[in-house]
Amino acid sequence: MRILKELFDNNKAWAARKNEENAEFFSKLAQGQAPPYLWIGCADSRVPANEIIGLDPGEVFVHRNVANVVVHTDFNCLSVLQYAIEVLKVEHVIVCGHYGCGGVAAAMQDQPYGLIDNWLRHIRDVYEHSELGPDDGLDPKTRHDKLCELNVAAQVHNVCHTTIVQDAWRRGQNLAVHGWIYALTDGLLRDLDLCISSPEHLSKTFRMKPSPRAS
Ligand code: CO
Repeated sequence: MRILKELFDNNKAWAARKNEENAEFFSKLAQGQAPPYLWIGCADSRVPANEIIGLDPGEVFVHRNVANVVVHTDFNCLSVLQYAIEVLKVEHVIVCGHYGCGGVAAAMQDQPYGLIDNWLRHIRDVYEHSELGPDDGLDPKTRHDKLCELNVAAQVHNVCHTTIVQDAWRRGQNLAVHGWIYALTDGLLRDLDLCISSPEHLSKTFRMKPSPRAS
């Protein structure tokens, strides 16, 4: 008996449905991909990228990790970013967090969780540098929601500060980085109005000198 038979049955039904809708669906996808979007989101099972933005396979390149964190030394995320921007030439990078994020909640607590605390440390830094804290006058849920938003903002900036994005802008490549947040309670996305599409939108500290080859 096949292990996890239900999932294979689901897959068979899905593939048949796609074929029925469009007989060339899989043969076209097999030829290559040219998605215009890169999605960087949380690994949370309730925030499936393709589904919530209504896109089919081939339409969005996806990277997900705990609490949608973009770390300068994470070669996994950086490799995704490089491939998406330099090879696929995506025009939009979307960093999407979500309210009620367990990773963000864990980063606000004193409770140790082991290895993952090292990962969540990046969010704890965002918390530490924010005006949020036990004395901010907010109820815990609002504080948590606010940190979910601030975490998206921080990660949008981290994306923009990478050599990959900076080089793309220097080459004159069209590239915008967006910060969104998703609510588990109503299934809707909110635009945090953080769109960054050129180095001029960044603080001076993070503007690299134009390279000679670009001038
Ligand atoms: Co999450």
